[in-house]
Amino acid sequence: MFWRKNGQQDQPRTTDEHGRKAVIDIHDITKVYKMGDIEVHALRGVDLQVFEGEFLSIMGPSGSGKSTLMNILGCLDQPSSGEYYLDGEPVSKLSESDLARVRNKKIGFVFQSFNLLKRTSALRQVELPLIYGGEGGRTKRAKAALEQVGLGNRLDHLPSELSGGQQQRVAIARALVNQPAMILADEPTGNLDSRSGTEVMQIFQGLNREQGITVVFVTHDPWIARHTDRIVMLRDGKIIADRAVPHPLVAGDAERPSEADEMEAIFKETYYGGEKEEYN
Ligand SMILES: Nc1ncnc2c1ncn2[C@@H]1O[C@H](COP(=O)(O)OP(=O)(O)OP(=O)(O)O)[C@@H](O)[C@H]1O
Ligand SMILES: [Mg+2]
Repeated sequence: MFWRKNGQQDQPRTTDEHGRKAVIDIHDITKVYKMGDIEVHALRGVDLQVFEGEFLSIMGPSGSGKSTLMNILGCLDQPSSGEYYLDGEPVSKLSESDLARVRNKKIGFVFQSFNLLKRTSALRQVELPLIYGGEGGRTKRAKAALEQVGLGNRLDHLPSELSGGQQQRVAIARALVNQPAMILADEPTGNLDSRSGTEVMQIFQGLNREQGITVVFVTHDPWIARHTDRIVMLRDGKIIADRAVPHPLVAGDAERPSEADEMEAIFKETYYGGEKEEYN
C-alpha cells in the first residue's frame, strides 16, 4: 500500500492487496461546524480507503457524523482539515466550481427522500445530469439507465405515479447515468417499507456484483447492512470499527428475521467475527 504526502499528486495510487485502486482515500479528515461561539466537532480525524468494486455501509448512532462524512465524500462539502483523493484526484482543497465539476463527473448521489422533481417524467429526471454535463445521446443513455433499474416501462411516469421503491430506482438511474466512479447513498432505504427496501437493495447489489460499481451507503438498519460486504462504524466523529461481513446476504433470498434473531446474528457475525474477519 502506498501513502501520499500533502500536496504530492504524482505518487503511486493507494491499492489494496488485490491490486484494486482506491476510489476513496481520505486521511485525517476533520469537520468543525461553527455556530456562533460554539464549535461542533462532527468528524475528529477519519481515515478511510474504499477500493474499486467495494460495497460498504456506514453505520453509527444519530449525530455520529455519517451524513457529514457522506457530504464530504460526495464533494457536497469540504473538510476543515485532512486530505481527500477521489479516484486518484486530490479534491480537499478545490474551489466550489471545481468541486461541482468533479461531483458531476465522478459521483452519483442517492438521498433518503429521493429528491425528484415533482412535475418531471422519469426519463427527463435521468437526463438532467447529462444536460448539466453538456453530454450528447441523452435520451438513449437515460433510457438505458432506467432499463438497468427495471423501469424501462415507466419512462413517462411522474413521481406521483410511481411507488416509493420505484421513485428511489429513478433516483438510482439518475445517479448512474453519468457512469460515476462510485455511488453514494445516505439512508436510501430509510423512507421505504421492507419490500421496497429489498427491491432497492437488489438494484444496488446487481450494480455492484454485475457491473463492479463501487457503492457506499449509510444505514441504521443492521439487516440492510448485512447485504453489503463491509461495515464501517462511526461514533462521535471517529471510526470505531471496520469489518468485513462474513456472509453477505443476497437481497430477496432471505426473510427478514425477527428483531431478536437479527441482533444476535449481527453480534455474532459482525462484532465477534466470522472466519474471514478483518480487524483494523
Ligand atoms: N450544518 C451543520 N451545522 C452545525 N452542526 C451540524 C451541521 N450538520 C451536522 N451538524 C452536527 O454535526 C454532528 C454530526 O451530524 P451528522 O448529520 O453528520 O450525523 P449523522 O450521523 O448523519 O446523524 P443521523 O443518523 O441523525 O442522520 C451532529 O452533532 C450535528 O448536530
Ligand atoms: Mg444523517
